[in-house]
Amino acid sequence: MSATQKRNIPISLPSMGQEEWEALKDPVFSGWITQGPKVAQFEKLFAERHGVKHALAVSNCTTALHLALVALGVGAGDEVIVPAFTWVSTANAVMYCGAKPVFIDIDPVTFNIDVNQLRSKITAKTKAIIPVHLFGLCADVDKIKEIAPELKIVEDGACAAGAALNGTAAGALGDIGCFSFHPRKSVTTGEGGMLTTNDDALAEKLNCLRNHGASISEEQRHKGPRPYILPEFDMVGYNYRMTDLQGALGVVQIQKLDTFITERQDWANYYNEQLKDIEWLRTPVYDAKYKHGWQSYVLFIDEAKAPMSRNDMMEYLQQQGVSTRPGTHAVHMLGYYANTFGIKPQDYPGAYAANEYSMSIPLHNKMTADDFEYIVTLLKAL
Ligand SMILES: Cc1ncc(COP(=O)(O)O)c(C=O)c1O
Repeated sequence: MSATQKRNIPISLPSMGQEEWEALKDPVFSGWITQGPKVAQFEKLFAERHGVKHALAVSNCTTALHLALVALGVGAGDEVIVPAFTWVSTANAVMYCGAKPVFIDIDPVTFNIDVNQLRSKITAKTKAIIPVHLFGLCADVDKIKEIAPELKIVEDGACAAGAALNGTAAGALGDIGCFSFHPRKSVTTGEGGMLTTNDDALAEKLNCLRNHGASISEEQRHKGPRPYILPEFDMVGYNYRMTDLQGALGVVQIQKLDTFITERQDWANYYNEQLKDIEWLRTPVYDAKYKHGWQSYVLFIDEAKAPMSRNDMMEYLQQQGVSTRPGTHAVHMLGYYANTFGIKPQDYPGAYAANEYSMSIPLHNKMTADDFEYIVTLLKAL
């Protein structure tokens, strides 16, 4: 197929094959399919890759965010600062705790939290902040620590496996990191999530919380092997565990993460170069202190100069076989949040603009050189 021939390019595709297939045989044939040795191996590899002491696998990133907030003691009456432009679960996790999400605007150039507005959002009730490393670019957590050292930081690194800021990996920047292995992420286990922390006590608590609140006391642990040790249940926990089937996939995928990111970086460079002279779009902008994880490649469309609106462009590209998406959502504009908190779209102009004018184009490891060329040709011809 030549690069000009019409084809179907999905916005994302998991990169899985024979190795993942083979890896599933172990849990399937051994019968150990709930959280077990494969999850433990995945956690170890993930922790090593991200330079953290502890990694704890969970069912998805939303449950990771929930557990992180519970472990930090966030509850009714507390406020948690979240960016107004993110996937809805960043704010939902705050609601699960009975706390209030306090939105902060984003910088529409990086799509990440605007740290300059942080001070004005902090009140006596503020317990934590969830900076989101959107599309694989870390939020400026170093600046957040400088501005508000008193705040607990839960990194929403759903999109940021393998990303870094000033040489420190996502997940090692705040108190707790949260990751997603949904199929739109660079590495996937179908659904799945990971918590990271360098704090032993938090890790212990998160471990209990993900498993119904069950813990084995030191005393019990040292009594030696017995048929069954009755755990203690000192807290109300959840069942947010990852299965060993997912763990087996994770073990293979995490070892491919750096190859995936390198390939994505190369193709992001290609897009940047090819699209840089189109005056009605802006390619991703970020400082050299960041290592981008390239979960998504997101353009900003200047509708005043563009030949058509962002929505018409998405429609047109779909007709040509190219799947696109808005970057993500302005959560303050979503029905529940707008109605509950009486927020207007323009209250967060950066998030509003990103909501209306961002467009994610395909970038994944199953794409061919012709696929990339086809997309570039379509955009240039508009
Ligand atoms: C920024 C962000 N946070 C949280 C999530 C939730 O992740 P999961 O689907 O694993 O619950 C996503 C998923 O897309 C996301 O993009």
